[in-house]
Formats: sequence, structure tokens, C-alpha cells
Amino acid sequence: SIGGRTEIMKVFITRRIPQEGMKILSQAGVCKVSLWDSDEPVPRAELLKGVEGAHGLLCLLSDKIDTEVLDAAGPNLKVISTLSVGFDHMAMDEIKKRGVRVGYTPDVLTDATAELTVALLLATARRLPEGVVEVKNGGWSTWKPLWLCGYGLSGSTVGVIGLGRIGMAIARRLKPFGVKRLLYFGRTAKSYAAEVEGEYVPLDTLVSESDFVVVSCALTPETQGLCNKDFFSKMKNTAVFINTSRGAVVNQEDLYQALSSGQIACAGLDVTTPEPLPTDHPLLTLKNCVVLPHIGSATYSTRGIMAELSANNLLAGLQGTDMPSELKF
Ligand code: NDP
Ligand code: DGY
Repeated sequence: SIGGRTEIMKVFITRRIPQEGMKILSQAGVCKVSLWDSDEPVPRAELLKGVEGAHGLLCLLSDKIDTEVLDAAGPNLKVISTLSVGFDHMAMDEIKKRGVRVGYTPDVLTDATAELTVALLLATARRLPEGVVEVKNGGWSTWKPLWLCGYGLSGSTVGVIGLGRIGMAIARRLKPFGVKRLLYFGRTAKSYAAEVEGEYVPLDTLVSESDFVVVSCALTPETQGLCNKDFFSKMKNTAVFINTSRGAVVNQEDLYQALSSGQIACAGLDVTTPEPLPTDHPLLTLKNCVVLPHIGSATYSTRGIMAELSANNLLAGLQGTDMPSELKF
């Protein structure tokens, strides 16, 4: 406060977000919001201009928050609130150095993302997109014993890479399909894995023994490119690969080779590099690769709740109070 008068703080929001979040910010009356009022990403120059002198920044996973953005914001910046649980788009070391707090959206999107992962797994393994196309283009001539066969979960071994909030929610949903063994890999064993009879195994074991490999870990320097030539070469020829974490966990050239050579059966991806994946990308020429446009958390209610949470995180950061979901780093 200056001379007894409370200073209105400045906030920049990098995209149109669900109204639930905007309402919270306008009703709080503690900040003046400027918004990149579009459904498309803010151009870099506009981002750098928009954050100038800002006390708070509400951003998306498609905004790269690096030194340049932090410098452009300047010393006023108290809080960055991202409308995501993933935080690989932000330069955490630089943010920490500047004493800026970070809010994110864990838990509230776990169910939606786990549901999408199960949907993608089944769609990929049972070849739903191919089947839909065949019905429309006249390829469906009759019931054929050997046509459009895929792979089922019953009696299978599922391997989850990253048994965190979402990985565990995926495992809980897959178990009732009759999964026989649930393997998982991460940096540490999890006591809560007992609920799904999860077996903590080395990565090589998971990759070579699983019928379904599901990636749900965070993108970090250690997990970047984890799913590469060596990884795919250890998978069964009949195995299904699913990634709903971040595109950069996968080496896409190696995945293309594995899919086109029959090294693995099929893949379902909700995340790619880059996003969007160019429409002429080789992966999109493959029938055994199902690509979705990063819609893991995309239910109306989840996105509304994410917007609410990110608005409340932002307000707490501005006011120096406890955040509903502060990222500790
Ligand atoms: P959590 O932090 O709960 O889980 C992340 C998991 O990653 C942890 O279990 C961790 O296991 C694992 N992990 C971290 N480092 C490594 C490593 N070096 N090797 C193997 N595993 C590792 O996060 P959430 O479950 O909430 O979210 C996970 C990710 O999902 C997010 O970071 C985001 O990228 C992605 N996501 C994608 C969505 C979509 O729309 N497709 C929606 C929401 C999230 P351990 O500690 O044992 O290493
Ligand atoms: C996240 O939150 O990290 C997802 O990728 C989008 O919800």
C-alpha cells in the first residue's frame, strides 16, 4: 500500500480461459487483469509486452516461461499460475532464483486425464478409428473372422511409467478389465501401489514384459527421450504403446520406425512434439498410430475447475497467502 491507499496489482493472462476463473479474478477486486483475448496462443512479442511490470502471470502449457519472459516482467512479479499440472514449460531454476511463487492444477484433472488415457488405449488396441473409417468408405463388406482384430486387456500385463496421481488413476481403471499383472516404473516404489497390486520393476523388465506400456510420468531431463529405439526394440511385437504425458518423452523418429517395421503393434498418443503435429508428419500416415490433440483434461467441468483453481492460486500469490495448490520446488 502507498500512502494508505492499496495499490491495484497488475495481472496478465495469456489466453481466453473458462469464465469460472475470470469471475473469481474480477470479483476479488485486487488486480487489474489484461488478457490475450483469443483462443490462439499469444505471439511471443505480445507476451513480452503483456507481462511488463506484472505482479501476476496466468499462463498455459503452450507458453514458454523462460528468462526472457521473467526479465520482461521485471521485479514486480510475485506469482506465476499455470493452467496445468505439468510445469516443463517453465524455467523453474530462474523462477526460484527470483523468488517467484508458482501455482499449478494437480488432482482436479486426474480423473479426466485417466479416463482419456483408457479411452485412447482401447481405441488404439481395438482399432476404433480404422473401423470408423472403413464403415464410412465402404470397406465394410461383411463380417470377417480375421478383419480388424486387435488386442484385449483381459489377462494382460500392463506397465505404467510414472505411477503418480494420473498413473495410479489409470491403473485403478485398468485393473477391473482383468489385467493380470500391473508393473510400474519410477524413481521410487510407491506404498499406494498395493491397491492395484502394482509390482515395482526395472524399466527393462516393464518394457519387455508388458502387453500395454502406458507413459504418465512428468517430462524432466531424465525422462526426455526415454522411449527411444532401444526402448521400443525391447517391447513385444504385439505390444501397445500409449503416451499421455508429454511428447518429448518419446523419440518420434524411433517410434515411427518401431510402428512401421512391426517392432510394436500400435501406439496412441495424446501428446506430441511439436503441438500441433504437422499434418504431413510421418506418424499420421500410419494406420497403427492414433494421435489425439492433447485433450487429456478436456471435459467442461474439469477445465472450469482448473480455471477456478488457477485463479485462486494467482490471488493467493498476489496477496501472499496460502495457495490452494502451490508447486514446491
Ligand atoms: P505426478 O507428479 O503425480 O506424477 C508424475 C510421475 O512421474 C511420478 O509418479 C514420478 O514417479 C514420475 N517420474 C518423475 N521422474 C521420473 C523418472 N525420471 N523416471 C520415471 N518416472 C518419473 O503428476 P501427475 O500424475 O499429476 O501428472 C503427470 C504428467 O501428466 C504431468 O507432468 C503432465 O505432463 C501430464 N499430463 C498430461 C495431460 C494431458 O492432457 N495429456 C493432462 C494432465 C497431465 P517417481 O517420483 O517415482 O519418479
Ligand atoms: C497438464 O495439465 O499438464 C495437461 O497437459 C493439460 O491439462
